[in-house]
Amino acid sequence: MKSSNQYPSLLDKTILITGGGTSIGACLVEAFLQQGAKVAFIDILDEASNALVEQLNQRYQSTTVKYYRCDLVDIPALQQVITEVEQDLGSISVLINNAACDQRHKLEEVTPEYWDHCIDTNLKHYFFAAQAVRLQMCKLGGGSIINLGSMSWHKNQGGMAGYTASKAGVMGLTRGLAADLGKDHIRINTLTPGWVMTQRQLTHWVDKDTAKYIEANQCIKDYVMPEDIAAMALFLASDDSKLCTSQNFIVDGGWI
Ligand SMILES: NC(=O)c1ccc[n+]([C@@H]2O[C@H](COP(=O)([O-])OP(=O)(O)OC[C@H]3O[C@@H](n4cnc5c(N)ncnc54)[C@H](O)[C@@H]3O)[C@@H](O)[C@H]2O)c1
Repeated sequence: MKSSNQYPSLLDKTILITGGGTSIGACLVEAFLQQGAKVAFIDILDEASNALVEQLNQRYQSTTVKYYRCDLVDIPALQQVITEVEQDLGSISVLINNAACDQRHKLEEVTPEYWDHCIDTNLKHYFFAAQAVRLQMCKLGGGSIINLGSMSWHKNQGGMAGYTASKAGVMGLTRGLAADLGKDHIRINTLTPGWVMTQRQLTHWVDKDTAKYIEANQCIKDYVMPEDIAAMALFLASDDSKLCTSQNFIVDGGWI
């Protein structure tokens, strides 16, 4: 679905989206393409990512969308990709730290190695991506960084402490970097989704009781869709939000 808003400030901008191959990330990739931006995305799922590029190239003529394969736990590889994106598409104006993995785990089965991997997958690369794009954004006179958070830890959700701890850390990271980046007119915000009905959620977690759960727990009873997250991301990336930084923007249908 196309956003009903067009943001002229996004035209021809270079946008980098992590985890752009599927789910919310893939929706973000398309939403920014529809704004006339040049979109680079990182993922590890080659088949899905290549299929997305092919599909978007067919759907939109004369657009620029490029897939970069990189496991984000490998920080030197991430730094290398960020340099390549600048060479290929120009300096990055907007970074969306989106990739994460909400894998469940039993409390008693978590090892130190597993814990470190959770933090590496869900938090560490958010910082290093922000660090690496900073100089590119400085060349442009500013930029916007959007960190995907989660309502899960606000709601005491169990079974994935590595993920929820990382997502709480994402909010700390946003607030911890905002003053440093603000000097260079780089904005940084957290975008916190509620329960978003991606294909992965539909496959793994949505069942016959979901509608009743949404009915009981959301003020607005509609399913939150990836497009609803993309709509907020477009606003936060655009100059229309030029004085918004260090904040947390929640899109959850009023999850009570
Ligand atoms: N879907 C939801 O209900 C929901 C709720 C709250 C927060 N969020 C947040 O929104 C963001 C997107 O969520 P989603 O549901 O689309 O996630 P998802 O798991 O469906 O997709 C994540 C994407 O990131 C990629 N990725 C994961 N680890 C990677 C790695 N190490 N290197 C490169 N790519 C990697 C995956 O391959 C995948 O394409 C995440 O930050 C998530 O925490 C989602």
